[in-house]
Amino acid sequence: MKNNSLILEEFLDNGFNLKSHLMEYLSIKECDLDGFLANAKMNLANLHPGDALSDVSDFYTDIVGDRHVADLAAWHITSKDYIADTLKLQQRFARDLVLDFGGGIGTHALANAMSEKVKHVFFVDINETNRHFVEYRAKELGVENKLSFCRTIEDAKISKFDTIVCLDVLEHLANPAFQIEIFNDFMDCNSIALFNWYFYKGEKNEYPFHIDDVQVVEKFFKTLQSKFLEVFHPILITTRAYKKIR
Ligand SMILES: C[S@@+](CC[C@H](N)C(=O)[O-])C[C@H]1O[C@@H](n2cnc3c(N)ncnc32)[C@H](O)[C@@H]1O
Repeated sequence: MKNNSLILEEFLDNGFNLKSHLMEYLSIKECDLDGFLANAKMNLANLHPGDALSDVSDFYTDIVGDRHVADLAAWHITSKDYIADTLKLQQRFARDLVLDFGGGIGTHALANAMSEKVKHVFFVDINETNRHFVEYRAKELGVENKLSFCRTIEDAKISKFDTIVCLDVLEHLANPAFQIEIFNDFMDCNSIALFNWYFYKGEKNEYPFHIDDVQVVEKFFKTLQSKFLEVFHPILITTRAYKKIR
């Protein structure tokens, strides 16, 4: 196990060996890696079929393939200070049984697995490539015993989590209000959930996969305010900590 400062240092230094994991896992040559990452955001946006998509989750299960890994990796490398702040935030709250919902390339789940306050991390992601990539990364980093990989929360077979991490995911769901109600059911009065959201498709439609429907968003905020109480923290104002309202 590592202390919090060392975990942050390793993330800021090399993203937990992210580039070498990408090259090895996706068989990318070093000379092709920068191009692969530079075009990732645009490539992902271009994959989105727009209104032709009938089920939002099909985008992540059937369409993105390894393009989301590329997009998320590029983001975690270019915005490493922001991601490091989210790691600092979870270091403040994460303990015992942790759910990382929509865990992507695994930065948060791997950091939690390295923490001595955390007993086990359940990495849930609908995208099979993401799950397999993070499983590979966990083995490379020697934390595989503290991680389980699931497609849905129910697959984890756990009735209560001490910490729920759901970062940059809610805007990807058809019904984010329903999702946080589910999270609420998996919390007790000592559990903490970390949420952020970005219900916006971007100035130039860079994020066509983000939900921005006014009614969906309003329902989300009503549910949030009726079921959760915010817990103040001084770290990162875009990401909020919540406990369950009893
Ligand atoms: C923008 S990424 C965020 C990844 C990670 N949390 C982070 O902060 O880097 C959104 C993630 O949510 C996952 N996702 C989308 N819909 C999901 C669903 N219904 N259930 C679980 N994961 C989902 C995607 O596969 C993707 O990995």
